[in-house]
Amino acid sequence: MNETTPAPVIAIDGPSASGKGTVAALLAKELGFHYLDSGALYRVVALAAARTGLSLDDEAALARLADGLDVSFRAGEIWLEGEPVSEQVRSEACGNGASKVAAFPAVRRALLERQRAFRRPPGLVADGRDMGSTVFPDAALKVFLTATPEVRAERRYKQLIGKGLCANIGEILQDIRQRDARDSARSVAPLQKCADASLLDTTSLTIEQVVAELIRRCRAARAL
Ligand code: DC
Repeated sequence: MNETTPAPVIAIDGPSASGKGTVAALLAKELGFHYLDSGALYRVVALAAARTGLSLDDEAALARLADGLDVSFRAGEIWLEGEPVSEQVRSEACGNGASKVAAFPAVRRALLERQRAFRRPPGLVADGRDMGSTVFPDAALKVFLTATPEVRAERRYKQLIGKGLCANIGEILQDIRQRDARDSARSVAPLQKCADASLLDTTSLTIEQVVAELIRRCRAARAL
């Protein structure tokens, strides 16, 4: 890589609970790359809106909020105005709010440069819905990670139970289906595999197998 070549990006997109956050973070660690959890930014916008009493229907106000958001990622934590909020933004309420605010073009525009700023040497692994299509169209490798809604619901259920939280698998599955529908149907940056992304179905794979396969694809694409 020389000074004019931008740092390589590995773009990992896919639906909620597809496991992309877990494998993207592990891949970044394995490669020594930076990591962008773009969904967390939409989740933080939803949390900040709830805290300030903003309506999730007010596109202009939400975009202003997104634009001025005092959010940072340090020491494995997400900070909103200096307060650790990782736990809160992972809640189903913030996930649902994120899916709503993410449907607004002005909010997406407000977060665009913030996401691109994560691209620094030696490279970046970015996960979300539109990493390969919109935020990093020149990514060295684009992967669309998926799994059946049932398997994704089961993974989310185990994750919540593992944290000692209450969970109902039927409700989680319904939620996943609703969020998929909303994320896929929106007019701006809908959830879809872009033409130059490769598909990776993780339904019957372990986390370790997915990470190994991603490393294999990175090498094959000469992304490293
Ligand atoms: O990946 P996640 O579940 O944390 O994302 C939360 C919501 O944010 C999800 O419903 C869709 C939205 N999102 C998006 O529209 N674009 C992204 N790049 C990342 C997330």
